Amino acid sequence: MGKLALTGGKAVRSEKAKWPQWPVHDAGDVALLSAITNSNRWSYDGMYEWQFAKEFSAYHKSKFGMCSANGTVGIQIALEALGVGAFDEVIVPGMTWQATAAAVLDVNAIPVLVDVEPDTWCLDLEKAEAAITKKTKAIIVVHLYGCMADMTKLQKLCKDKGLFLIEDCAHQHGAFWKGKGVGTLGDASSFSFQESKVLSSGEGGFNMCQDRKLFERLYSLRNCGRGYKEDMTNAVQSGNYRLTEWQAGILLGGLARLDDQVKKRDENAQYLNSLLEQIPGILPMRRRKDITQASYFNFTFRLDWNILQAAKGVTNNHFSAALQKELNADFQAPYEPLNACSLYKPHTKPRHHLNAEYWKKIDPTRFKLPVAEDAHNKSGVAVHHKFIMGSKKDMDDVATAVKKVVKHIDELKAEGPKAERKRYRALAI
Ligand SMILES: Cc1ncc(COP(=O)(O)O)c(C=O)c1O
Repeated sequence: MGKLALTGGKAVRSEKAKWPQWPVHDAGDVALLSAITNSNRWSYDGMYEWQFAKEFSAYHKSKFGMCSANGTVGIQIALEALGVGAFDEVIVPGMTWQATAAAVLDVNAIPVLVDVEPDTWCLDLEKAEAAITKKTKAIIVVHLYGCMADMTKLQKLCKDKGLFLIEDCAHQHGAFWKGKGVGTLGDASSFSFQESKVLSSGEGGFNMCQDRKLFERLYSLRNCGRGYKEDMTNAVQSGNYRLTEWQAGILLGGLARLDDQVKKRDENAQYLNSLLEQIPGILPMRRRKDITQASYFNFTFRLDWNILQAAKGVTNNHFSAALQKELNADFQAPYEPLNACSLYKPHTKPRHHLNAEYWKKIDPTRFKLPVAEDAHNKSGVAVHHKFIMGSKKDMDDVATAVKKVVKHIDELKAEGPKAERKRYRALAI
């Protein structure tokens, strides 16, 4: 019997000690959902949808914004509205949820996977610049987990090279860069309201932009191609990507709580990082100084295997499994790199076979993503944002558990007792 809970020792935190739950709602949300049910307006440009769109845009200081069906089609219609299409190249970070790249395929463009920075896991701008070709039309930046790329540099790069900048804000509702809301830093942006996200309606999405004409195109693309305000002279080919009044109702309730929740997570994350940075072998993520408010979909940190002395073959998965047992919390590796992602399979869709050259260019295995690979396979640890929504004592428990696993790391064996790694269901969407 060892000292770690994984090897039979006493856990840092009793199973009875509860973590905050996610998603959350209150009586006001239930009342509003009931009122919507009793109304005769359940969808299609409803009152609550546009009230939410106005308030959510205002919170991020965006001129224009509208709801959409989810964060995947949000990226797709942002690309289409900007005129990105067949055979155009779009730079996408190699570490993200597969939807970021899948949306590029869905407009018949070519996702060019670029590696991420070791200390933020966000797009590496030097590598992005090196990947620009004559065919490049846009860069999609993902504000990943709780970090951001250098948005000022990226804005300049896109301006200098004449590229569209699209922000995938699926993780970071309520984050601000130099006082400006995410979603307003590029040409267009997309958010997700899937259940696990920091603002949720079960499913749902949102687009922002700062240009009226672009907004009208986005509106049209999410609404079966109807022109803005039903002006059919401007109709285009598209699908139905609207959301319902119930979703808007629950989003209004969530929005009223969002700022406090974002601030709480940011405060807890900064406190926890201040504890983790004192533990040899643990590297907190970098919080760029221009982030005026960070928003965390996951709290993440890295293991420095130059310092941690573990048995051969021991990785972040073993470390996460040990933390799970100490804390009864779902620690796990960050996203699979897109060149080896089990859900990013461009060649399983015959409709992507535009021609032999395209078929070759969308092969994800042609990209080298050593930093993303290292983060997923060896050094990265991630935990859902609900685990940083509680008290300082919760954060102390996390730091105590990390310290304990570091101290007894010799108990982790590559082939040893494999902890049944529970997956937080909504995280693995
Ligand atoms: C970074 C990122 N982009 C896009 C999406 C897609 O959002 P949705 O699930 O709402 O389609 C997600 C969802 O997990 C995401 O994490």
